[in-house]
Amino acid sequence: MTVKITIKKTFTSLLLTAAVSASVAQAAEVEVLHWWTSGGEAQALGTLRDTLKNQDITWKDMPVAGGGGSSAMTVLRSRVMSGNAPTAAQMMGFDILDWGDQGVTANLNAVAAAGNWDAVVPEALKRFSKSNGQWNAAPVNVHSTNWVWGNKAVLDKVGVAVPGNWDEFIQAMEKVKAAGVTPLAHGGQAWQDATVFDGVLMATGGIEFYRKAVVELDEKALTSKTMQLAFDRMRQLRTLVDDNFSGRDWNLASSMVINGEAAFQMMGDWAKGEFLNAGKVPGKDFVCFRTPGTQGTVTFNADQFAMFKVDENRRDAQIKMASAIMSPEFQIAFNTVKGSAPARTDISDAAFDNCGKKAMADLKEAGANNTLVGSMAHGHASPAAVKNAFYDVITAHFNGDMSSSEAVKQLAASVKNAI
Ligand code: GAL
Repeated sequence: MTVKITIKKTFTSLLLTAAVSASVAQAAEVEVLHWWTSGGEAQALGTLRDTLKNQDITWKDMPVAGGGGSSAMTVLRSRVMSGNAPTAAQMMGFDILDWGDQGVTANLNAVAAAGNWDAVVPEALKRFSKSNGQWNAAPVNVHSTNWVWGNKAVLDKVGVAVPGNWDEFIQAMEKVKAAGVTPLAHGGQAWQDATVFDGVLMATGGIEFYRKAVVELDEKALTSKTMQLAFDRMRQLRTLVDDNFSGRDWNLASSMVINGEAAFQMMGDWAKGEFLNAGKVPGKDFVCFRTPGTQGTVTFNADQFAMFKVDENRRDAQIKMASAIMSPEFQIAFNTVKGSAPARTDISDAAFDNCGKKAMADLKEAGANNTLVGSMAHGHASPAAVKNAFYDVITAHFNGDMSSSEAVKQLAASVKNAI
């Protein structure tokens, strides 16, 4: 009889334990929507997954491939609209503000206050992380788009130095072409064309012009000779890519530079993540430099994890995730792999390689000189509708035979339409 009771008790308590741990396991889970699916990106994201795993938080992965995140944003919209928002979603710039205004994002004010985010997150990022005084997102990094990546062995072999201005850049690429190597590795997808355009526009018009054109959407700037020259330069670049560029993913273009099939790639510093992931060393195997003519200015974009309202039992894991993202240790672990700079101003550059140190120094300098501006291509200059208007014209021009004068006309018209 005694034995029977003991067994029964043990069984009941086992059942109870199982039930409790099942609910704990379910509660301590974050579902994360993101577009970090390339080798380097996945490696960087792994540092977040590991950080959370150490806190017994389970990671439910929701990857949506597609650089720049347009496809991820489409999937996110349908998830939120059907009342099934993920715990967190990778997001950038104006998209975060849009969701903040919809009232569906989680309030992170308490964890932000506890971590003193207001003091350490730069203003340029904070203006997107917060709406109406409420923190909606935890910033992970600061990337920028006005970068060029070059294969050192190819450059040495062909005998070209790092170009100091636009004309030297074109001359260097002509020389590479004459040597039988593809000068510019590129993927003909709208967001990649637009990423190149960020740097070209800055090189052509400088900071004031860039601001007028893509932030203020000034009609005069949009239809100016300077804008036309920027399109002429895109046309120049079109002659320097290989025949198979159409539709190619950005990381495959990075591989072309990594393998020495191509000399350069004009891409944000997430490209560095691919070089590192392939075991390449900056300064030795590859070089990084600002789009010629843009040194001193930075067209930035920052990835943030926007948090959505979740059931009370999932809130704890969500807050822990937000807190982990903003920790100095995580910011270093993640950004040294991802190719970006930290989203906090109080992090030492000691753990970063030379390109990372340069990214951090350039950012600091641009912040101090008011030459830091949001990337049009990556949603930090204007809302999505305007960004898409830019994409449409830039990509139609680059991939077709539209003249530069026609491109500026169409650009002004479609931007006007989108405002
Ligand atoms: C950017 C994002 C980067 C990188 C890139 C390519 O929009 O900020 O983190 O992942 O897309 O996917």
